[in-house]
Amino acid sequence: MRIKGIMGYFVTYPVTKRICRIFGIGQEVMTLIEGDEKALLFDTGMGYGNLRQVVEYMTDKPLEVVISHGHGDHVGGSYLWDEVYLNEKDWDLFHRDTREGRISTMNVLMDQRGYDRLTDNEPYVEVRDIRLKPLNEGDVFHLGGYDLEVVALPGHTPGSVMLWNEDDGVVLCGDAICRHTLLSVPGRAGLEFYRDQLRGFLDKYGDRLNFVLSSHNPSPEQPKIFYDTLESVEGVLSGKYKGYPDAFGKLIGIPLMAAKEEVGLEGFCKDGGLGNITWIDR
Ligand SMILES: [Fe+2]
Ligand SMILES: [Fe+2]
Repeated sequence: MRIKGIMGYFVTYPVTKRICRIFGIGQEVMTLIEGDEKALLFDTGMGYGNLRQVVEYMTDKPLEVVISHGHGDHVGGSYLWDEVYLNEKDWDLFHRDTREGRISTMNVLMDQRGYDRLTDNEPYVEVRDIRLKPLNEGDVFHLGGYDLEVVALPGHTPGSVMLWNEDDGVVLCGDAICRHTLLSVPGRAGLEFYRDQLRGFLDKYGDRLNFVLSSHNPSPEQPKIFYDTLESVEGVLSGKYKGYPDAFGKLIGIPLMAAKEEVGLEGFCKDGGLGNITWIDR
């Protein structure tokens, strides 16, 4: 794999010999994984700038493009390729993506951070018809000396998936788990469902988990993020955490509650925990 620090609108962040993260302007992080025979791009980001040119500079191996879930800040660059893998449960979300929707998301981010908004004439990728290929729990991508297994972790969206590599003990998780995980199913039902998904993942993979790559932080996270997130969910369900109105929810006009109070914008909990959760208070 070849990298330059800055390529077009993207910044690269090497993690291991085989894994490099690609950081976009919308605070989104894509991941390129290179095996001996093939490469895999996990997520295509906000669709701001030509990610395909960057990836083709970095690797000349045949490429599979895999999307973690159907949100616009993860699918926006997909139209630069002819086909991508995505769990069928998120295909309708994918089809709701528009260039205008991504511009509006970017505006929310800029407002939240106090920057001037970008103009509408920025290099956002245009939507076009491309082929979606189904992605299922247990599918394995064999890259040559490096395998990535698809693990479903619904909660953020119905079709959210992660990629697991046994040798490194790494999980690439999209938004399925991050510092500040937003659950899509409203209220208590969503919390209980997500708690069960997390417990299931930790039962199966927890003792082999070395590090975690989530989609809105380029640095590797410790496995602690899974346990802290589970603790947040359990705390809300037990009544230990009453919750705080979430500032981001106010910005996007959704009644979101967060389990824990945070400092700053990057999802750091005041109690030092790594895994806050937000849910729709309905
Ligand atoms: Fe998302
Ligand atoms: Fe996201």
